[in-house]
Amino acid sequence: VGSTSIRDRYARVRSHSEALAAPLSAEDQTVQSMPDVSPTKWHRAHVTWFFETFVLAGRPWYQVFDPAFGYLFNSYYEAVGPRHPRPARGLVTRPGVAEVAAYRSHVDDAMSRLLEDELEETMRCLVELGMHHEQQHQELLLMDIKHVFSCNSLLPMYAPAAPHPRPGAAGSSTGWSGSEGGVMEIGHEGDGFCFDNESPRHSVLLAPFEIARGVVTNGDWLAFVADGGYRRAELWLSDGWYAVNGEGWEAPLYWRGDDSGRWSEFTLSGLQPLDPDRPVSHVSYYEADAFARWAGTRLPTEAEWETAAADGDLNQAFGEVWQWTASAYLPYPGFRAAPGAVGEYNGKFMVNQHVLRGSSCLTPEGHERVTYRNFFPPSARWACSGVRLARDPA
Ligand SMILES: [Fe+2]
Repeated sequence: VGSTSIRDRYARVRSHSEALAAPLSAEDQTVQSMPDVSPTKWHRAHVTWFFETFVLAGRPWYQVFDPAFGYLFNSYYEAVGPRHPRPARGLVTRPGVAEVAAYRSHVDDAMSRLLEDELEETMRCLVELGMHHEQQHQELLLMDIKHVFSCNSLLPMYAPAAPHPRPGAAGSSTGWSGSEGGVMEIGHEGDGFCFDNESPRHSVLLAPFEIARGVVTNGDWLAFVADGGYRRAELWLSDGWYAVNGEGWEAPLYWRGDDSGRWSEFTLSGLQPLDPDRPVSHVSYYEADAFARWAGTRLPTEAEWETAAADGDLNQAFGEVWQWTASAYLPYPGFRAAPGAVGEYNGKFMVNQHVLRGSSCLTPEGHERVTYRNFFPPSARWACSGVRLARDPA
């Protein structure tokens, strides 16, 4: 990968973020509907801050755009310094969207100049990380604006043909793929990019298992709801049962029931009739786990998922819904976070979260990998998260 190509890829990633924000007004881009959600404008500025802070800052020819932005748009990097509180990002009415656009252009001009020449290895890796980081925020931007719009009584539409999980091919969700288990290898290896949490590649010992070829559908989930799934304590983990009752969960996050018992689903294209053939999405780990128990099955571990996906045994592995796994988000054996601020990227989040595998319809093209480890707390529902089942052979 030469310097010309990294320059082109940088430009492509950056312009994709702007294309995603383009349908949104300044008001749309400013609000924050819950602490986990960040305003669109904040995403656009934060990913820019990442390049400014980790790639450009300190170069004699680079002029920092506005020193106050370091405080506003640092997300969680303790080594970089204090920051504006996350739950209050929606209160940052200034800078406005025009100034954020100017910030982006300023950093893009400097990056374009920097990428004219061959970069030394460490710097090239940071630019690479910055691009993959921005792609992660492209998915967050869509997750977040969906939540923002879902809180508006008018249920506005982001775009008429916005991404939404698609039904699998006929028969693709049925059947199980069996594995003999044994000593298998998982994790990233080789020259391509990966996040630090995907390595080192290592051996795992798997008992024989079966994993569903397809993902759980809305139709499957309707049966769970109709069978009292959300009202039966015996199906739930204790923390999950606490969440069901505390939050009043009766269905996935964006389902809306009417008086006649018909369900609709809020999507980025507005409210749509619930399609029983589409993958269920926006369920928490607790719900995924309860559903699996109700179905007499269990969730796959991340090693089961990865080995089956690497063998090509799974349908809908990518591009529809992230799939919760039974695996706690932990460091792989031998994992070491990088020294300095970028070491905070993944490692410090390795507690109290679960791994999700695959990718979703909101994941930007080219961002998926069979070794990719997404992660969220078990109560999180605003990601495009769904369910693939596994079971022990009879
Ligand atoms: Fe970030």
